[in-house]
Amino acid sequence: MTVRLSSRVDSLRPTAVNSILAEVRQLQAEGRELVSLMRGEPDFKTPAHIVDAAERALRNGRTGYPDNRGEMPLRQAIADKLHYDAGTEVLVTTGATFGIWAALTAILEPGQEVLLPDPIYDAYQSPIALAGGVAKAVPCSIENGRFTLHAAALDASCTPNTRALLLNTPWNPVGTVFTRRELEAIAEVVLRRGLVLLSDEIYEAITYGPHEHVSPISISPELRERTIYINSFSKTYAMTGWRIGYCAAPAAITQAMFLVLQQSSRGPATFVQDAAAEALRGPQECVSAMRAEYAQRLQRLRQVLDGIPGCPVLDPEGGFFAMVDARGLEQPSIEIRRRLMRDHGVVVAHGSAYGPSGEGTLRVSFASGGATLEKGLQRLREGLLAR
Ligand SMILES: Cc1ncc(COP(=O)(O)O)c(C=O)c1O
Repeated sequence: MTVRLSSRVDSLRPTAVNSILAEVRQLQAEGRELVSLMRGEPDFKTPAHIVDAAERALRNGRTGYPDNRGEMPLRQAIADKLHYDAGTEVLVTTGATFGIWAALTAILEPGQEVLLPDPIYDAYQSPIALAGGVAKAVPCSIENGRFTLHAAALDASCTPNTRALLLNTPWNPVGTVFTRRELEAIAEVVLRRGLVLLSDEIYEAITYGPHEHVSPISISPELRERTIYINSFSKTYAMTGWRIGYCAAPAAITQAMFLVLQQSSRGPATFVQDAAAEALRGPQECVSAMRAEYAQRLQRLRQVLDGIPGCPVLDPEGGFFAMVDARGLEQPSIEIRRRLMRDHGVVVAHGSAYGPSGEGTLRVSFASGGATLEKGLQRLREGLLAR
């Protein structure tokens, strides 16, 4: 007799990356060689001084249970960066992934809505559902070569049942970095509607040209009171596999998230927390060097992909993804993505995986560089030209 699974699981969906990977593995099993420009995984090694700190911590016996809120030296480093109270307003989490989960679980009542700009990182919907909430897409469109979220669209999406807005700046997948003015307009809606803002700032260190990351917590004290700040070491310090991130929020919210954390992960490994403290306190040249390398990769991407008829590249302001606006091909993005994979051996993500407003676009990652990027871009160009 088969085991009956919880109906809660029915609301969960595999992430776009995992669904595409399943197709990739199938083709690879048939002997196909594929180049991936799909994942959001930096190809840099974690900087040596951070690895050294972890090694030192291990040798010094830092292998016991961590303080479940986060080891104090790390919490203090986070508090100093963000100007929050290390004792009551900071929580160290197993990646931003756990921070998102803890935040949603701490604030949602069953059936309450969470607004998500559409298209957006697709691993928000399932935790919203698991926490009893309902994800509600706020349609966004490409304006002047850039995906734009209008405060008026946010406002129009609100109902008496809307509890929160989940924002991500720089915005994955579309590459928009919200300006202070845009954030002020969004803040006005959040405050007037009495929402909670969940602010995922995992790409904060990766911005280009004149675009600068502005954190919503800097907009006003009133907004900060209603914001759960979520961040991670994964992208900024190339530490995806270390599984460590952090949150900051007013004390009562942090306490509720801490209660959630105690029932599950109980925080990242102690020696990993020591390494993360070194990441924040130590030299930051590694971060600027990675940003400069991403900027060069982006330039190369533009050189190869610019000028393909009907497929302009949207210039990302931040993050390490570029969106190709392939609406000119007049085909569903999933079909274009499959054709590129099958006939041209290059893997990208289809925009509709991130919401209906992403239809017609393709997300191209330049988190990997070197030969992977070069080969992948050439194949992509050839595939988009072939139609
Ligand atoms: C917007 C966004 N938030 C969160 C995450 C997950 O981060 P972490 O590795 O810290 O769990 C990702 C990873 O791709 C992401 O793109």
